[in-house]
Amino acid sequence: VNSKRIFNSFVGAALAAALIEIILGLVLLPKYRPTAEEAYGSVKALHASPLTAAFANIHHSLSAVLIVFAIATVLQGLLSGAYRFTSKKLWVGASVAAVLFFLFQLTGHLLPWDQHAVRTAAVETGIAQGAPVLGTYQANLLRGGQQVGPQTLSFWFWAHVVVLTALLVTGGIVLVRKIRATGYSPGLISGLFLAICCVGVLLGLLVPVQYGPAALLSDYGNYDAKPEWYILPMHSLLNVFQSMDPSFGFIGSMVIPALVLLLVVLAPWLGKAEAPKKPLYGIVLTLLLCIGTGALSAISYRNLAAPAGPNVAIEAAPRAQVTPLDPVLVARGRALFDQEGCTDCHAVHGSGGHAGPVLDNTGTRHPDLVWQSAHLQNPHALVPSSTMPTFARLGSQKIQALAEYLVSLK
Ligand code: HEC
Repeated sequence: VNSKRIFNSFVGAALAAALIEIILGLVLLPKYRPTAEEAYGSVKALHASPLTAAFANIHHSLSAVLIVFAIATVLQGLLSGAYRFTSKKLWVGASVAAVLFFLFQLTGHLLPWDQHAVRTAAVETGIAQGAPVLGTYQANLLRGGQQVGPQTLSFWFWAHVVVLTALLVTGGIVLVRKIRATGYSPGLISGLFLAICCVGVLLGLLVPVQYGPAALLSDYGNYDAKPEWYILPMHSLLNVFQSMDPSFGFIGSMVIPALVLLLVVLAPWLGKAEAPKKPLYGIVLTLLLCIGTGALSAISYRNLAAPAGPNVAIEAAPRAQVTPLDPVLVARGRALFDQEGCTDCHAVHGSGGHAGPVLDNTGTRHPDLVWQSAHLQNPHALVPSSTMPTFARLGSQKIQALAEYLVSLK
């Protein structure tokens, strides 16, 4: 059937482009230093020479193009009904390859070790910590410790360069065999491959990578980072579920994405019973995916772009008001801090979760009671990228007590 050959060719083109990406990575590898002291400098040095800068920029943009193309491949396969005709192994393999591209992107983002990279890793591993039972274990494993630090860099570097690459290469070889055995169109493969590469090269040359300042020690526990475009839908989902209950965050960040992935991977089995002519399962799933991710990304994007509104005034207000703290309120705030689930996400004096920053010196960073209470009522108005749920429901008295306690943490 034709849809099968078209789908197989899409997968073939994606794998060919992934090979280019691996080659570019190998060219850059000898110049890169995977340590916290040297990583940023080595990346800057790469960008100092026009040739290696071009390679680095193309490596960066091609990876984004690959993610988009992998999603397009899967959607195309769903819409055309190819999932019913192509080999099941090939279908599953192609979906897994799309996930691999995504993991390459996540791990690769940390390698330049700039501010945004490190803060993003703090947010991501903090989110991983939100899972029940295994959360802390898996987050500490991903970070290589309680907090993001130099060890996280070397770990993600090896994952990027060795583990993920080895998986992609071995998986790729199996898939290429399957493609050859089940039929493809050489013309379509080369056409798509050229198109991907052209877009990747053009983007790389026209939109070079932007790095922030080098990461400092203080960024290891800083969670103020705007999510990258490929994370937006999950960022929204996380916020939606966290606002129902702080401990529900993992449903949005892990359970739902995993379920969606399962629905895609299992399409050959789940769509088996449908009428032979129309790939109804694929069409419905595509619609749901497009509408769902579109809407979620839009919400997230709008939230992030939204001006902070009246609270801007609070940020700008002089920090002079040194109101003496009320010890009774501080004590009450400390008790509320435990009762209201703040410790799920925040550590104070060494105990507590790490989905949010350590609060040992939040009182120094934000000595203003007004800031603290405004932040509790609407975190995202003050910190646009915030994934902290709002606590407006606690009411002004409890908020006031919590704010007093927070300001006392110096
Ligand atoms: C689901 C996780 C989560 C829960 C629950 C949570 N927070 Fe947060 N919190 C975060 C994240 C993520 C940030 C970083 C983004 C930001 O500043 O809004 C943060 C930031 C903060 C900050 C700013 C820290 C600084 O110094 O910049 C304070 C203060 C804070 N939270 C207090 C609280 C209090 C008090 C509670 C309980 C009423 C609470 N948080 C509950 C996730 C959480």
